Amino acid sequence: MGSLNAEPLLSLESIPEGALAEVEVRLGEDAESLILYRQAGAVRAWLNVCPHAGRRLDWAPGQFLKSREGLLVCAAHGASFELDGGLCVAGPCRGDALRPVAVEVRDGQVWLSPSPL
Ligand code: FES
Repeated sequence: MGSLNAEPLLSLESIPEGALAEVEVRLGEDAESLILYRQAGAVRAWLNVCPHAGRRLDWAPGQFLKSREGLLVCAAHGASFELDGGLCVAGPCRGDALRPVAVEVRDGQVWLSPSPL
C-alpha cells in the first residue's frame, strides 16, 4: 500500500506550461485517475471523472480535448470545463464541477498534498 506521499506523481517538467496530464494514483482504497493542469508553474488536479455520467474525460489515457477558448472538453459527450476551478460552463452538466484533488509542487515534482481531497 505505502503512504500517500511516498512517491511523487510526476515531475513538473513533464507537463508543458498550459498542458494537461493524467496520472493514476491510489486514494485510500481506490485507484483513481487524476487530471493535472499546469499553469504559471503551479499545478491543479481533479479526479478524471466527469460529473455528467461518470466517464473519464480523456479519449485515451492522458489525451484530453481542449477547446479554442481553453476549456477542457469531456470526450464522452462534450461537457466543457474551465481550468481555473473545474466548473462546467457548457454541455450536459453545466453548473457542476470536477472534484478537486489537492496537489503541490516540491523539488520540481508534483505530489499529493497530505489531505488530498
Ligand atoms: S460523461 Fe462527460 S459529458 Fe457525458
